[in-house]
Amino acid sequence: MNGRPEFLVSETEVNRIIDVLLKVHGIDFTGYSRASFTRRVQRIVDRDASGNFGALLERLSVNSNYANLFINEVMVNVTEMFRDPTFFHALRADVLPQLKNLDHITIWHAGCSTGEEVFSMAILLHEMGLLKKTRIVATDLNSDALQKASKGVLPSKMIAEYEANYLSAGGLGLLSDYYAADFNSITVNEFLRSNIQFKQHNLVSDGFFGAFDLIICRNVLIYFQKPLQSSVVSLFKRSLNKNGYLCLGTKESLLFAEDRFAFDEVDKREKVFRKKGS
Ligand SMILES: C[S@@+](CC[C@H](N)C(=O)[O-])C[C@H]1O[C@@H](n2cnc3c(N)ncnc32)[C@H](O)[C@@H]1O
Repeated sequence: MNGRPEFLVSETEVNRIIDVLLKVHGIDFTGYSRASFTRRVQRIVDRDASGNFGALLERLSVNSNYANLFINEVMVNVTEMFRDPTFFHALRADVLPQLKNLDHITIWHAGCSTGEEVFSMAILLHEMGLLKKTRIVATDLNSDALQKASKGVLPSKMIAEYEANYLSAGGLGLLSDYYAADFNSITVNEFLRSNIQFKQHNLVSDGFFGAFDLIICRNVLIYFQKPLQSSVVSLFKRSLNKNGYLCLGTKESLLFAEDRFAFDEVDKREKVFRKKGS
């Protein structure tokens, strides 16, 4: 193959895959941005199709284990601890102090992947003395990622970067205070994980499930087309308490959301918004 794909999937073929995933397996990718979705499909096709797209489509239709694998692989799960440290700095300096007088704090991490972002939040809350009164719900569509997240075990190859991110984010101690290191993995300390509930939730179809003071959904909307971005923002609006905060990723915005006027912009650079009180 000389590192080149055996064939390039056409738009029609991508549509047929989307059709099978929706009609047979009930997972709707119609609103995802096509360029990135097609790149991911191409990677899987290169590996699995052996030049026979029809056979791959048939396997996708009849084999739900394979379909599950496919669905998990077609989503981008890249994440890291204290990703974009200035964002965590803003949480520490501007957002969490506004929530600290609440009796209980409820946080939803939507699209949490393998948990690195959620564990970073737990460390931050611990250092601010807020962890014990906080309940975190962390959701994703990817069942493999959630399974990894709920074990609290992370690969250790990025640990030097994570240490640097943690310090840039204003970390008060050493990141190594918060995990036990093994040969090539780390296990996040139990006390940080005890208030976190990981659960499967599809932002496209699963709807509202609680009232939160803070919703963090970073680097997820970027994979969605504008109408889907808008409907997910509307879900977040309904899921936030009055004056609750919504945090998006650096490349994301509320610009295309019908509900954009329901929010005030708190931090333009860090993409922090606050639901209006009335
Ligand atoms: C790039 S990761 C972002 C992880 C983390 N928020 C961060 O910024 O480091 C995007 C995540 O969104 C999840 N995702 C994609 N579509 C989703 C959907 N419809 N519902 C819930 N999660 C979804 C993917 O499985 C993936 O874990």
